[in-house]
Amino acid sequence: MTLDLESRPIAGSSGAPIQITTRLRRLRRTPALRSLVQETRLHPSMLVAPLFVRPGRAVREPIGSMPGVARLSPDMAANEAARLAELGVGGVILFGLPDVKDPLGLEASADSGVVQDAFRRIRSLELPLVTIADTCLCEYTDHGHCGPLAPDGSVDNDAALVRLAETAVSQARAGAEIVAPSAMMDGQVAAIRAALDQAGFSETAIMAYAAKHASAFYGPFREAADSAPAFGDRRSYQMDPANGREALREMDLDVAEGADLLLIKPALPALDLIAAARARFDLPIAAYQVSGEFAMLMAAAERGWLDGRRAMTEAVSAIVRAGAGIVITYAAADLATWLRDER
Ligand code: PBG
Repeated sequence: MTLDLESRPIAGSSGAPIQITTRLRRLRRTPALRSLVQETRLHPSMLVAPLFVRPGRAVREPIGSMPGVARLSPDMAANEAARLAELGVGGVILFGLPDVKDPLGLEASADSGVVQDAFRRIRSLELPLVTIADTCLCEYTDHGHCGPLAPDGSVDNDAALVRLAETAVSQARAGAEIVAPSAMMDGQVAAIRAALDQAGFSETAIMAYAAKHASAFYGPFREAADSAPAFGDRRSYQMDPANGREALREMDLDVAEGADLLLIKPALPALDLIAAARARFDLPIAAYQVSGEFAMLMAAAERGWLDGRRAMTEAVSAIVRAGAGIVITYAAADLATWLRDER
């Protein structure tokens, strides 16, 4: 016997019948109804794909802990950008992996650097996607910290500002339309804004990694970028993941210093901050689904423990539902492909 509870009154605990007037299942009955009332829709143009750029030609070096992601030489990065543009992906954010590292991270601001080379190649293709630079020094310093060191071994905030500003100007000169300072140095947005304006790049936008936790979820990235700190950790400049109010102060400051967009990172562990940022500011809000967030879903999917496509779609939808209008994700190409196939 099957009970049709949907269509008849059910008995309350007193035994009296209850008439159900609100039936939320009415709008869940068919795929068309569900699609009509869907609140959060992903679109390829809101996705940004990270690219790791290393020296060389025709090099594609897979990254073990990030299935489908590779370190690319500048020519290959340009090819990949063209493929992403073809899929409708909204942007690329570039990370550089230089051959030589030094205490100041000089390659970061070299006009001949790998990232600069890749930006020039991508821009010459005139693709309909936005070019974004991660502006940091940890991939370029031999000690792996995000700025030059003071004699006591701590990261020298104000010396880092000079290097970050030089790096942002060089990235803008090479063709980055947005620079994204991620070093979590105090005053980095103001320093970069002033340097860009002075160098004639007043139209280059700043996407501030405003709230960036010292997160365990950056692990695979540090393998990919060979940027794990040689000693210590990043907790004297990145934020304690336990703190949310402090994240709002970081965002307030970055807005005051002239940020054009705010970026929150990681994404899924910080949905509360994405929602709070959306409510508090009228700037575009971006979120970075970082390497560890990607790797954990991919690893579980590889083992058959999760449906990778559904889990990835759900995770990115949750990030958007929380309030992000832009998502940086290693799954950008996959998501764009799935979205195209669904149509
Ligand atoms: C540079 C930077 C990092 C990430 C983005 N920019 C590494 C870090 O802070 O250690 C991590 C991105 C990811 O995990 O995908 N500072």
